[in-house]
Amino acid sequence: MERVTLVLPRGRPWETLEPILRRAGVPGVAAADPDRQLVVEGERVRLLFTRPADVVTYVREGVADLGVTGKDVLLEDGSGIVELLELPVGRWRLSVAVPEAGSPWPELLAQRGESLRVATSYPRAAASHFAARGLTPHVVHLRGAVELAAVVGLADCVVDVVDTGRTLAAHGLVEVERIAEVSLRLVANTVSHRLRHAELDALARGLRRALRTSA
Ligand code: PRP
Repeated sequence: MERVTLVLPRGRPWETLEPILRRAGVPGVAAADPDRQLVVEGERVRLLFTRPADVVTYVREGVADLGVTGKDVLLEDGSGIVELLELPVGRWRLSVAVPEAGSPWPELLAQRGESLRVATSYPRAAASHFAARGLTPHVVHLRGAVELAAVVGLADCVVDVVDTGRTLAAHGLVEVERIAEVSLRLVANTVSHRLRHAELDALARGLRRALRTSA
């Protein structure tokens, strides 16, 4: 069988994912150190590590057959790939948050209307959330630490991932709307999915088994 390339997210999602991949018996995982080594060459599986937001690019371009990333990333940029499996672990949410000391959210929204300024690393997801209620706010696209924008007045609100809620609280922000529940997903390149279905499916089945035993 030809080798399968799997691209995985570094950082927080990796902490959640690593024990599941180990239990699923994915080769190379036990020895992986994504902070130092971005490629793990194995006989049957090659592992690549990158930022969660870039996983989709490697899968879509066909450099990787499979990838794992968060639904937040897929909401922003999930076209041209196949979503195979939800890994019901690492559940976060994509939410709107505002400064606690400012006007209450409904008032703020009514006051600012079209001139609402939203800071986020998820510009498409944020725009489509507000578009659903007929608003086209000014979206400030930031690469991270978006809380800062609300703290210093660059934006009226932020759209960001919330897990424990500690980061929001530490910056005097409160969650006012949940846009989506977010969990990790196994995704596939469309061509690999068609032509290498058996190999990809074997890996997906291993993951399903590992998830069942961890439930
Ligand atoms: C994410 C997110 C928040 C934080 C939320 O940031 O952007 O800042 O985690 O987690 P919490 O609710 O448990 O505090 P991440 O650490 O991924 O880095 P980033 O700021 O670069 O996005």
